[in-house]
Amino acid sequence: MTQKQDTITLLAIESSCDDTAAAVIRNRKILANIVSSQEIHKQYGGVIPELAGRAHQQNILRVTGTALEKAGITLGDIDGIAYTKGPGLMGSLLVGSQFAKGLSMALDKPLIGIDHLQAHVAAHYLGDKQPSFPFLNLLVSGGHTQIIKVTAPLEMEIIGSTTDDAAGEAFDKSAKMLGLPYPGGPLVDKYAEEGDPLAFTFPVARMNGYDFSFSGLKTSLLYFLQKQVRIDPDFIKKRMNDICASMRFTIVKTLLNNLERAARDHGIKEIGIAGGVSANRLLRSELRRLGMENNWNTYIPAFEYCTDNAAMIAIAAHYEYEAGHFSSLSEVPFARGNH
Ligand code: KG4
Ligand code: ZN
Repeated sequence: MTQKQDTITLLAIESSCDDTAAAVIRNRKILANIVSSQEIHKQYGGVIPELAGRAHQQNILRVTGTALEKAGITLGDIDGIAYTKGPGLMGSLLVGSQFAKGLSMALDKPLIGIDHLQAHVAAHYLGDKQPSFPFLNLLVSGGHTQIIKVTAPLEMEIIGSTTDDAAGEAFDKSAKMLGLPYPGGPLVDKYAEEGDPLAFTFPVARMNGYDFSFSGLKTSLLYFLQKQVRIDPDFIKKRMNDICASMRFTIVKTLLNNLERAARDHGIKEIGIAGGVSANRLLRSELRRLGMENNWNTYIPAFEYCTDNAAMIAIAAHYEYEAGHFSSLSEVPFARGNH
């Protein structure tokens, strides 16, 4: 369907990890964006895949109903149904994909499978100020850390990615070592605001090309804490702010060193960040500082479009719909992509 249509209204479903989300988009404008975060994982210190799948089953109908109600539309107004086809947890993805396929069949409307990572990038197209092409995007979330060169709305190439943990994982795993609850990233960020980033030194990994590694930092923090706690059992409590500030400084430096190099090498000055970790205060302020220094235009989607959400799936689906790219009902979700 490549002919121009006056109104395009799409329902989008996102269920790749532990957030059950639904959004309605009409002509690129988000009419509803509903996210239900699964609290159950907090007590386990990480996402338990089987529990995530079950919780999606429990939530998906309610979340979708709320999105339709908030948008003020009914199922009959929908021109297509989008869903996240991967990467993510297979049990979680299957709930969203089967739900979307059921609706697609029942309503006889096209199905649009969307790549979760492309959708994180597409979150930039929801803002008032949008990057022009080509732009570089640093995608930093609990599952991914990538530098992506974007040449058209859904045309992109990964030019750097993590060889082990994602940036969000580095935050969360470090936080766990400090006894903080999951997900620890926002708490580390909060404590870091009151600490000295140069109090302790942790290694900044330098990998091939624009790749990242955070396992050295994790090991170094573990040994450092074990040593200090042997000397003073209250060390973590006493120096929480300084440890968090030093760790945050190291993670942000690791991320931005590569981004700055990639921007310079590619001669690109349109630079964005996306994904849950882009909520990090130091990452945001350092991106702006580097932007001023290097004459970049910098872009960060609104927070609600940075963490996992269905609005980003919806905007990506809008482009696919316009291009006439639809999925078959036998499309199978995929669990793994690049990190
Ligand atoms: O994009 P997202 O919601 O989900 C994934 O696709 O993974 O990202 C969640 C990640 C978690 O690791 C969380 O700790 C991290 O983003 N995060 C932060 C902050 N806010 C969320 N990390 C550091 N500083 C923050 N302020
Ligand atoms: Zn994500």
